[in-house]
Amino acid sequence: MKIINVVGARPNFMKIAPLMAAYRDFANIEPVLVHTGQHYDERMSDLFFRQLEIPAPDINLEVGSASHAVQTAQIMMSFENVVIEHKPDAVLVVGDVNSTIACGLVASKLGIKLIHVEAGLRSGDRTMPEEINRLCTDAISDMLFCTSENAVENLRKEGVADEKIFFVGNVMIDTLFKNRAKADESKILDKLGLAQQGYAVLTLHRPSNVDNASVLGGILDALEQILQDIPIVFPIHPRTLKSLETSGLSGRVDAMSGLHLVDPLGYLDFMKLMCEARLVLTDSGGIQEETTILKVPCLTLRNNTERPVTAEVGSNQVVGADPEKIMAGYRRIASGELGECERPPLWDGRAAARIAQILSDKL
Ligand code: UD1
Repeated sequence: MKIINVVGARPNFMKIAPLMAAYRDFANIEPVLVHTGQHYDERMSDLFFRQLEIPAPDINLEVGSASHAVQTAQIMMSFENVVIEHKPDAVLVVGDVNSTIACGLVASKLGIKLIHVEAGLRSGDRTMPEEINRLCTDAISDMLFCTSENAVENLRKEGVADEKIFFVGNVMIDTLFKNRAKADESKILDKLGLAQQGYAVLTLHRPSNVDNASVLGGILDALEQILQDIPIVFPIHPRTLKSLETSGLSGRVDAMSGLHLVDPLGYLDFMKLMCEARLVLTDSGGIQEETTILKVPCLTLRNNTERPVTAEVGSNQVVGADPEKIMAGYRRIASGELGECERPPLWDGRAAARIAQILSDKL
């Protein structure tokens, strides 16, 4: 049974790593790994393959960056040839990036079974490109693997048949558990001169936050206030770096004392930074989940989340980009108001094994 597995952008790599490992226990699964090349910088791609011990891709489509339409179309054109040549029994896509929907559409239109891992997440915000990718991918998938009960409910409400839905847990958390000890050996705190619990970590890359100078400026207002208490480490995404330069905000950021602006980090250094942080500020989806497991307070700089379980059981606060709301959330954390977090059901490091078993049995 040949399964083509697709990755494209940074958050896909943590999701595919445990699946590629889990397939080894199933002699009837022959995996093929396709990298679309949506992310291509060493620090956005190859570094993750090495650290997470993902086998080198069998095929790299090398599409690179472009507008949504061009990028999606180029992935589709190249991936169609791959599917026709390899004649897989199924195509497996993860997450919600452009590579996910592009390859999903190709598989579906060629009549190949489509499997979506991390199905059913909904922010309810259709201005997010990822929400469109999620909705469209789920609508054409044959097997939908979910991380939470809430995701299962979303799919049911959209009319997806029960027999297509599998609640299996979270493959990203498999990767976190597997690499936690290795991450603990990272020397990143010494390198940046930081003390345990003595700093915050920030990541920002959503177009709604970084492509709008007034929104980005508001976030900087809040950061300036937090910096009066503690330093902030900011591994900067290439999109955000570009936006700072074009919006004329680079000078302001450079002048912010205590802000450690660093290049994008590998998985292990970033994990270590999160583990030891006083708090994390982010607009990422996956980081909300990782901080839930690490029990690190998280401020999500978005108006919604497709991962509500992190706010229900964990210490995630969805505060948006308004500086006053960010500061209100920060004060709750600083005062120790947020309690212990629970682990969401099935986030136990075994999600990929469950998925591989189901694929082996049912495909
Ligand atoms: C993409 C995903 C987003 C995910 C994020 C994680 C979509 C629609 N968006 O957003 O869901 O959370 O990845 O990082 O799929 N660039 C580089 N080097 C690279 C990759 C990108 O410099 O290796 C720069 C390019 O200028 C590019 C820009 O970053 O135009 C944006 O990259 P793109 O893949 O289009 O979207 P992301 O913002 O990374």
